[in-house]
This record gives sequence, C-alpha cells and structure tokens, in this order.
Amino acid sequence: KVVDGTRIFSLTAQEGVTEFRPGVETRTWGFDGSYLGPTLRAERGERVAVEVANDLDEPTSVHWHGMHLPAAMDGGPHQEVGPGATWRPTWEIDQPAATLWYHPHPHGATEKHVYRGLAGLFLLDDDASRAATLPHTYGVDDVPVIVQDKVLDDDGQLELSDDGGEPGTLGDVVMTNGTVGAYQEVTTERVRLRLLNGSTARTFQLGFADREMDLVATDGGLLDAPVRLDHVRLAPGERAEVVVQLQPGETTRLHSFEADLGGVVVPFAMGANDAFDVLELRAADQLAPSPEPAWEPSAHAAQDALHEDDAAVTRTFELDDRKINGRRMDMGRIDEVVTEGSTEIWEVRSTVPMPHSFHVHDVQLRVLSVDGDAPPPELAGPKDTVYLEPNRTYRLLMRFDDYTDPDVPYMYHCHMLLHEDEGMMGQFVVV
Ligand code: C2O
Ligand code: CU
Ligand code: CU
Repeated sequence: KVVDGTRIFSLTAQEGVTEFRPGVETRTWGFDGSYLGPTLRAERGERVAVEVANDLDEPTSVHWHGMHLPAAMDGGPHQEVGPGATWRPTWEIDQPAATLWYHPHPHGATEKHVYRGLAGLFLLDDDASRAATLPHTYGVDDVPVIVQDKVLDDDGQLELSDDGGEPGTLGDVVMTNGTVGAYQEVTTERVRLRLLNGSTARTFQLGFADREMDLVATDGGLLDAPVRLDHVRLAPGERAEVVVQLQPGETTRLHSFEADLGGVVVPFAMGANDAFDVLELRAADQLAPSPEPAWEPSAHAAQDALHEDDAAVTRTFELDDRKINGRRMDMGRIDEVVTEGSTEIWEVRSTVPMPHSFHVHDVQLRVLSVDGDAPPPELAGPKDTVYLEPNRTYRLLMRFDDYTDPDVPYMYHCHMLLHEDEGMMGQFVVV
C-alpha cells in the first residue's frame, strides 16, 4: 500500500511447517508464511518503508542485499530485531532496475536463519528496464528462481552441520522457490528467469543441456547488451537474469551442472561434481510471441557509469581462513573509512585454495579485471557479490554516494554464510 507517497511493506519472520516431501512436515521459518517470503517490488525514485516484525524466539534482522541506502536502514548485524520487536526502515529507491533480495543478517547466525527459510526477492523497476523488450509479466514469463540446497534428516527436518567443514553445509536436495521438483508452465516464446543463488554454501553452474540462454542482467541490473551463453556460475548471494526461448509443446530443464570452480584444490569437497535439476519448463502447444531481448545501452549505462580514472583510493583485501586481512569480524571495530562521493578500487584475493563469495553492502560495483584479464560476461554487469576463484586478484571499482554516518557501518563479507558467521566480515563507514 502507498501512504503519503511512501510504499509500505510488511514482513513478519515466523515459524512454520513446510512439506518439501509429500506427507513429511519439515519445521521451517519464513516471512509471512512458512518458507521464504513475498516478492517485494518498487520503482526507482519511490520512497519505501518496511514494517519488519519478529515472531521468532531469537533476534534476527532483515538486510536489503544490493540496495543503496543509509547504513542505519541496511538491516545488518547492527539493526537486529529482538523477539516480539518491530523495526521500520525507510529509504528512497535510487538505483537502476534489478533483482535484489532480502535476508536476515544477525551476528553469527545468518547461516541458520537463511537456511531455515528466511529470504525473498526485492525487485526494482525503472523506465529503462520497461523500455527494454524483456518478458515482464511476473509469474508468467518473468519468473523468480530462488535456488537452494538442503539436507533433510531421517525425520525430514532441515539439517545444518556445524562441524565447521568447508564450505559449510552442502545439501543433496535442491529446491526452487521452496519446491523440490519445481516446474513452470510456459505460454510465451521466451521466458525470463530471475536466478538467485539463495543457498548458504553451494556454488551452482546453471544452464540448459539443449540450448543457450541470453544473459540480460547481473546482480545490480541490465548488462550493456544481452550475452548468449551456455551456463552461468552463481555463488551464494549472486543473481543473474536470463532469457530462454522455447518451442511449442516442448519440455526442457534448467540444470545445475558440474561446476568449474576454478583452481580449487579439492573441488568435489566443494560440491563441484554434483548435478541437479532445478526447474522444468513445460511449454504449451501454442506460445504467444515474444520479441528478442534488446534495449538502448546508453539509456541504462550513462547515468550510472563508474570511471576507473576517478578512483583515488585503492584498498587491498586478502581472504584467508575466516579472516579478511588477518582479522575476524569485530562488531566494535571499524575496518575501513571511506569518503562520501569517492570512487575506489578494491583489490580482493582469496589467498588459500578456497573460493569465496565477496559481497559489499550499499554499492553496485564493476569488475575491472581478474588477474589482469578482462572479466567474463557474467561479471561484466553491475555486481554486488563476486565469486572469487582462489589465488586470483579481482579489481573491483565502486563509488560511495550520498549517505554518510560515522557511527553506523556497512558490511563487506564472504556470502558463504558459515564463513561470514565465523568471522570473514569487516565493517566500513562512509563519512
Ligand atoms: Cu546478502 Cu551482508 O549480505
Ligand atoms: Cu548485502
Ligand atoms: Cu568464504
């Protein structure tokens, strides 16, 4: 609902029961329901507010992943919501159309809260994305695909191993939007899939065995132009929008293929050898025509351009054994102080033969290079989370605009959530 020009949402974190397997009741958590949460949607330029209520027995928080907003509204570990309490962040949507998401971020317990089911999509729209010829009817030819893996124990309950093993819990059950064996009836020639890796540890390699797809957007919005590819690798927290074409009457499946994790010493221990069906697409016998994806690149890029020449500061981040630059997360320590309006280059590297999924709050960044090479297409658009192949240096360009607060930090961290909870996180303030 909209009150005095502000679009108001409400989300209640609560316990529930979900049937992932027929006849088996699994205890889960969800927002406004038993598992996952509603898709929120707002316009660029709109003011939004969210009434966040916590009906759980422990503190949680809700973080707006990928959103540019004041640190005090960010929903990180400094904005926890106690049991029975409510929190009402408000901010103005001031960034391009994108597939963002929301999830809890309580200090040391993010893995558990997301794994139990607390997450949802937050879609942003703007004129440029509306002018693009992209499928855009939600649930019809514009389909959310939240991919997660789970372990269900003998009683059908969610199991999260806390043995500290790398990279965290890898499940043998894969679900899409909380459904095992998910399918979508397709009634148009093309369908847009908004892919989110909402798992806690697993990196997926998503694609179709029998066709290519057009990558149209990454974490923070549209690419300059569609890129045709076979699959897209998504680490925890990353998103991609792809458009696939179907023939009348056919069935095809989005798979998670064996993953190329890049220079990992024991890839199978990271789940690289696992393969899953993610979503079956069942095309009707008659399909409504849909145009090829296309848009004016300038309409989108011009207003949000980041320029390497503007970067005056370079920072280095080494990720190793649950630490960033040799330090574990400390709620009372500010690790980096950034000047408002400045453009910076962050050089990020995993120094162990382990990959990580590096996420920075508040910004959409651009990957300048990977070990000196131009980034692959799936890293060429706006990003807020970047899969780090081990022992490679990722040069990330970002600008910190608008919101200053010397007291409330934003986070940067690994989005493999066990790593985050065990300390692979740091804090920056914008002043
Ligand atoms: Cu998606 Cu700091 O989180
Ligand atoms: Cu985030
Ligand atoms: Cu990590």
